[in-house]
Amino acid sequence: MMTMTKEPETMGLSTVEASAPRLPNPFPDAGSIPVTRTFLPPIGEYEALVQKAFASGQLTNRGPLVRELEEKLADKLDVSAIIAMCNGTVPLQIALRMLARGGEVITTPFSYVATTASIVWEHCTPVFADIEPEFLTIDPEEIEKKITPKTTCILATHVFGNPCDVIRIEEIASRHNLPVIYDAAHAFGVKYQGKGLLSYGDISTCSFHATKIFQTGEGGALVCNRPELFKEAFYRHNFGHDGPLAFQGLGINGKMSELNAAMGLAIMPYMDELIRKRGHWYAKYLKETDLSVCEPVSIRPGTEWNYAYAPVLFHSEERLLKAMHNMSESKILPRRYFYPSLHRLPYMVCNNMPVSEDISRRILCLPLHHELNDLDFSRIMDALHHL
Ligand SMILES: Cc1ncc(COP(=O)(O)O)c(C=O)c1O
Repeated sequence: MMTMTKEPETMGLSTVEASAPRLPNPFPDAGSIPVTRTFLPPIGEYEALVQKAFASGQLTNRGPLVRELEEKLADKLDVSAIIAMCNGTVPLQIALRMLARGGEVITTPFSYVATTASIVWEHCTPVFADIEPEFLTIDPEEIEKKITPKTTCILATHVFGNPCDVIRIEEIASRHNLPVIYDAAHAFGVKYQGKGLLSYGDISTCSFHATKIFQTGEGGALVCNRPELFKEAFYRHNFGHDGPLAFQGLGINGKMSELNAAMGLAIMPYMDELIRKRGHWYAKYLKETDLSVCEPVSIRPGTEWNYAYAPVLFHSEERLLKAMHNMSESKILPRRYFYPSLHRLPYMVCNNMPVSEDISRRILCLPLHHELNDLDFSRIMDALHHL
């Protein structure tokens, strides 16, 4: 049985926005079609796992459920080592603390705000490099142009699960001796050139927020393929502990709880089926969308994708706003992922990012989740094409 929570789609929704009268209600009414729905496992299966935590009396501090989840994730995501964490932002902060060390971080302006905010939060300086218009990931040529003696790191996002040009980025990074962090919040299960996408770069970070395809309520993970980095990330996510009475260095609390891990373990067996269902609806979008209205985003060749989102590009912002209006009349709630372009954040010095600026004004994510049905789909198509 598949059920749905009342989990609001909160990404990018500020308090100011939430109280603004003209914005769609983030808590979908009955009959509305939200951009995503949280998959919940059969409650008995979750309870059986929670029962284990009750029996052991251990709710946190890297109990057996967290360790079991890490093993299963490493296997599923094709990586050698993974640390389950409390969300997808803390691993970004830890990775930046380890690899950026207060310097300039070359990053994408087209991502969720957490990517840029983590850089600023860690007292580093974001330096934006514009994106590739075709795949919407950071443009390697733009990265190279932005490298200075102050650059300490590259932080790129596999936006919508679409892989960055990891091969060219690796080549540039190694030529300039720079570490690479990938924000892989959207990239659960993606393969690129036959390899798990998380196995590229020095560190990758994941989000298991309730709106992501694999979710633990709140949750995330850090992946690194170099043992010395793994050791450091491990102590940093647990207050710096190296055993009960010894400390390696500065750390914070990034641990995942047993209750969150239980959710992940209960959902894991359903992941292939969930991704298959999303793929089915995505293929229908590709087939039935009128290209004179909007176009799909290209997925990089060589990718085994996870259908994390259904982004489409309108020919102008005006047409996007019109389509959103029509959809909201039909209680369809797409989202403007990602708007505004991050170089427009109020705490950033605004510089020119023409591609990201243009894309962020014209892009819309259409509803995509396991509970869509033919009726919903034709409602979406009618509203989308009624311009
Ligand atoms: C690209 C990206 N990075 C980071 C995050 C932060 O993850 P979390 O909400 O789990 O902290 C998110 C999502 O929320 C995201 O979309």
